[in-house]
Amino acid sequence: MPVLDTIAAFTDDLVAIRRDLHANPEIGFEEVRTSRIVADRLAAWNIDVHENIGGTGVVGILEGTRGPGRRIGLRADMDALPIEETTNLPFRSRKPGTMHACGHDGHTTMLLGAARHLAMNRDFAGTAVFVFQPAEEGLGGARAMLADRLFERFPCDEIYGLHNSPYLEPGQVSVFPGEAMAGSDFFDIRITGAGSHGAMPQVGRDPIVAATALVSALQTIVSRNTHPLQAAVLSVTQIHAGAAYNVIPEEATLAGTVRFFAPEVGTLVQTRMREICEGIGRSFGCEVEIAFRSIFDVLVNGESEAGHLAEAARSIVGDANVLTDPRPMMGSEDFADMLRAVPGSYCWIGHSGTVPLHNPAFVLGEEILPVGASVLAKVVENRLAA
Ligand code: NI
Repeated sequence: MPVLDTIAAFTDDLVAIRRDLHANPEIGFEEVRTSRIVADRLAAWNIDVHENIGGTGVVGILEGTRGPGRRIGLRADMDALPIEETTNLPFRSRKPGTMHACGHDGHTTMLLGAARHLAMNRDFAGTAVFVFQPAEEGLGGARAMLADRLFERFPCDEIYGLHNSPYLEPGQVSVFPGEAMAGSDFFDIRITGAGSHGAMPQVGRDPIVAATALVSALQTIVSRNTHPLQAAVLSVTQIHAGAAYNVIPEEATLAGTVRFFAPEVGTLVQTRMREICEGIGRSFGCEVEIAFRSIFDVLVNGESEAGHLAEAARSIVGDANVLTDPRPMMGSEDFADMLRAVPGSYCWIGHSGTVPLHNPAFVLGEEILPVGASVLAKVVENRLAA
């Protein structure tokens, strides 16, 4: 697979960086070692380094030698997941219960590769802005960087990012304009009844019966209330209650997630969930409280920026490997928050691993490293061509 020549020349180093990051994963906002490595590398290539942006985030600034021009951002995430790795890789995680199971070690490495290439080829007009983000996995790393005035301090006219994909063929790139990844809310529900002896339910108010009825009723929102042609997911992913065979507990708790593309669908689901909670509470004589947290915005790729990213990808992996048909996913990504502030685009790049993301046996095919680094470097070169 063709990659940029300079990047091909230091691919061994990219593999070494990625293996080191993989063996030493860090959970969101704890990426102290990772950001140290990123900052030291950037500094070694004469890139201006700004640390502790939004916690453990790092920003690198590289000015071209042809004077002022556009400011093009590239962003990668750095965090790992609370998963026990089950691969037998020689560089498997050395940290129990922590694993790069989403390939963010590779994303960080690819952005370092793009930065190194651009630092070696500074013959452009404008500025490259390298954004190494902490805590993508539902912990709000993008929002933390934005709250730390990321784009006020390091303005960008456009910003680009990528994610590895074990669901595409190696070297395939998927990028398209418009809604690409779903918005996401998390919810917590607490059902309070009245505890009693398991043999005398008539003197209590059973929160478990209410909880099971509630789970079933919530499933009617997507099937009966939202428009069939508008995507929505409602998953109850936790249910906790009780601790004994002969005790009806006082309380049951539920939790889960809602996914949607249209904001009005997200609002409709929340409204119906509140109504159903209230109704179930009345039906079963329990008190039902529900709380929502907005976790991820809908990720929307800019029309022209998706085109720029596709063009860069075509020059690396060839026309036939760049898929531009819309393939929105119900998964979520907090790069969406950065795209609310700055126009840009996100793409998926395939690799040889076939185990799903977030699986304990996930393996990132390393041939993706120079490809992703080349695509990122290329989009900056194209946009900053004098
Ligand atoms: Ni990820």
